[in-house]
Amino acid sequence: MKLSPMLRFETAGESHGECLVATLTGLPAGVPVSIEQINRQLWRRQQGYGRGGRMKIETDTVEIVSGVRHSMTIGSPIALIIRNRDWRNWTDVLPVEDYPGSDEKKKPVTRPRPGHADLAGALKYNFHDSRYILERASARETAARVALGALAKALLGEFGVIVLSHVIAVGKARLERQAAWEEIVALAEKEDVTLGCVDPDVEARMKEEVDEALRTGDTVGAIFEVVARGAPPGLGSHIAWDTRLDGRLAQAIVSMQAVKGVEIGYAEEGAMSFGSRVQDTIHYQRDERRFTRGANRAGGLEGGMTNGQDIVVRGFLKPISTLRRPLESVDFVTREPALAAYERSDVCVAPAAGVIGEAMVALVLAQAFLEKFGGDSLAETRRNYEGYIEQVRQF
Ligand SMILES: Cc1cc2nc3c(=O)[nH]c(=O)nc-3n(C[C@H](O)[C@H](O)[C@H](O)COP(=O)(O)O)c2cc1C
Repeated sequence: MKLSPMLRFETAGESHGECLVATLTGLPAGVPVSIEQINRQLWRRQQGYGRGGRMKIETDTVEIVSGVRHSMTIGSPIALIIRNRDWRNWTDVLPVEDYPGSDEKKKPVTRPRPGHADLAGALKYNFHDSRYILERASARETAARVALGALAKALLGEFGVIVLSHVIAVGKARLERQAAWEEIVALAEKEDVTLGCVDPDVEARMKEEVDEALRTGDTVGAIFEVVARGAPPGLGSHIAWDTRLDGRLAQAIVSMQAVKGVEIGYAEEGAMSFGSRVQDTIHYQRDERRFTRGANRAGGLEGGMTNGQDIVVRGFLKPISTLRRPLESVDFVTREPALAAYERSDVCVAPAAGVIGEAMVALVLAQAFLEKFGGDSLAETRRNYEGYIEQVRQF
């Protein structure tokens, strides 16, 4: 018996701990897995103009310790590790077992940083030091999500579903046109990443926004867009609040550190328009026996289900909270006003966030895919998938 959800994943690990670990349970046996492809996704997460010093220390690579043999899944839970190279600088600071004199080695954070988990977490977990809180709240955790997402992409890729991303805004600089799929594909294959925008002129303006933030000790917000192509109609369901795929995707994206909003299709534009201009008209191509749509403003989701069009999900990133020009805070010890703690920090993380967004979308789509098609082996999943695709074709 399979327990719901069919595809489960969890991550653990602290930002300056030994490593990140993650498990993924429920992928069918027989899905091809390439370490190189997972590492490529990890590399993409580390790129982008405006990243801080940490990314220079870490070059993430994955180690798979269970669930994959001879380059394919075997049905058992997949466990993976991503080591933190920075750990060697933190072994005395964050030891698993306490030792005499450890107090002097601690790096307490007693001036909580606005916009971080520091204060709420310290109050909640009753630490007068935000160190243990920020270690887990940190977006370092997203490296594990990206590795898991790469496994989800491996499953989806077997069925022609591809999940990619690009950046559509950094500060005031915004891409005012729709990106072509080919442009987004080309972006993902690039070996040098600036700000992940398909348009070089707009990207140059985005860079100016980051430069201004760098100059003034500030940070800058951004919007990324994840596009998934090739999903069949009917993933997710309209029948209950928690089966609606739009809601599940929204949760996955907003669960990302620094993401404060999500948009599916042209939600914002739609909210300011008349209905006659917003809905995607339905047409029929008789020779190909298939329904077509006048546009894709719905972002591939209607009634909580995929409709066969590209799935388009945008994430809105707040400007990074840690500023070189620290914000006002209060010291836990003295209770006096104090400037917030500063640790080396990113200024803009837009392209990286796009890659993490891809991982989250891929994981949610893979969940919905396996809920619909099931299968303990890839061959079984494929039979079920092809039977359904034929049903849709014959509709
Ligand atoms: C890829 C990525 C990298 C990030 N790097 C930093 C950073 O260097 N400094 C920082 O203050 N916040 C960074 N953040 C954001 C914080 O982790 C996040 O704002 C914080 O944990 C509070 O969570 P919240 O903004 O979702 O409320 C990053 C976020 C992402 C997605």
